Amino acid sequence: MQKLLNWVDERLPVIDAWNKHVGKYYAPKNFNFWYFFGSLAMLVLVNQLVTGIWLTMSYNPSGEGAFASVEYIMRDVEWGWLLRYLHSTGASAFFVVVYLHMFRGLMYGSYQKPRELIWIFGMLIYLVLMAEAFMGYLLPWGQMSYWGAQVIVNLFGAIPVIGEDLSLWIRGDYLISGITLNRFFALHVVALPIVLLALVVLHILALHEVGSNNPDGIDIKKNKDENGIPKDGIPFHPYYSVHDLLGVAVFFFIFFIVVFFFPEMGGLFLEKPNFEPANSLKTPAHIAPVWYFTPFYAMLRAVTVDLFGLDAKFWGVVVMGAAIAILFVLPWLDRSPVRSIRYKGWLSKIALAIFVISFVVLGYLGIVPATEGRTTVAQILTTLYFAYFILMPFYTRMEKTKPVPERVTG
Ligand code: HEM
Repeated sequence: MQKLLNWVDERLPVIDAWNKHVGKYYAPKNFNFWYFFGSLAMLVLVNQLVTGIWLTMSYNPSGEGAFASVEYIMRDVEWGWLLRYLHSTGASAFFVVVYLHMFRGLMYGSYQKPRELIWIFGMLIYLVLMAEAFMGYLLPWGQMSYWGAQVIVNLFGAIPVIGEDLSLWIRGDYLISGITLNRFFALHVVALPIVLLALVVLHILALHEVGSNNPDGIDIKKNKDENGIPKDGIPFHPYYSVHDLLGVAVFFFIFFIVVFFFPEMGGLFLEKPNFEPANSLKTPAHIAPVWYFTPFYAMLRAVTVDLFGLDAKFWGVVVMGAAIAILFVLPWLDRSPVRSIRYKGWLSKIALAIFVISFVVLGYLGIVPATEGRTTVAQILTTLYFAYFILMPFYTRMEKTKPVPERVTG
């Protein structure tokens, strides 16, 4: 074995790579609960890729056959039901994990210098993930697949001048049809997964270049011993490789409870109208996207005024786009001298709490039908969502921060 390893290593530096990224990658020793979600995101990614490949073996990407082929997978293909539930539950689990992973970043200022690029790659992953989930959702060709896609693709039609042509170009037809299904299938199973994988590799490479942040937001590279090893660092392997297994065990425990007992999650993970085949002549009474898109959907619906000769729908799309775009510039909005929320002032703490509450309640408002009262609440919460970012350069500079210790506190 050693001989074989040496033979390979002389031709491809695998030992170097292992040491750089695993064996001698020194991570801060004070990682907590919130640091499980990066490795869990990778786990879910693998689950999606593997179950996706097997689903593709029995799925029929055509307007005539798609719905029936999913039923065939559920009823006739051996273990097909499990493959499908692993994949559909995996999609929701992906967003749960990624949202918690992003929240960790917000809490500990992990996007701050020198980790801006890790954050940007993360945001690109998030964008691609949303596109991936949206296109995957059309594939079962149920009522909600069809009408959800119809609503979202029509949004592009609200863009002045090019809108109509753009939505026609995306659909490849005058309405969502088998042509649209076919191209979404190609993007969902080939193009976007490749982009996603490439971005995850870049995300990790960027992380390993500067090293991980930690709950104290302290730069562990500033405190090295005589061998140049950070005093507050421990090698990723075996310490965190084993530690992460605990996260995997707990995650699987919860994940499989959902897969085996609540795969529809009361209509949150698999929406009820999607058990009916797509019908272009019958609009469902209430169209709502899957839960992970609903905060942005609520923002879209919160915009109700026509401005500068452009209708509310257009401004809704602008607000929705801006809500995601503003996350990209976050590293440059935070002017705090400290990273972690532990040492920031109370203004930052309140701002983060308001932001999280706004996002979660918007998520709820995006699921339920709109009423006048709910729209008013959504308008207030959308304003608070943006206030968190727009006011950040001010409150992070104004507030009094606590002194950051020299060494990590555990
Ligand atoms: C497929 C999705 C993703 C995967 C597989 C992934 C993977 C990882 C892994 C393995 C780590 C190191 C372990 C950890 O710190 O938890 C990490 C760190 C990080 N990720 Fe992600 N990530 C994903 C999405 C995102 C997204 C959407 C964002 C934010 C927009 C993001 C931002 C970060 C940041 C800022 C760090 C550094 C955290 C720190 O050192 O404190 N990631 N990611």
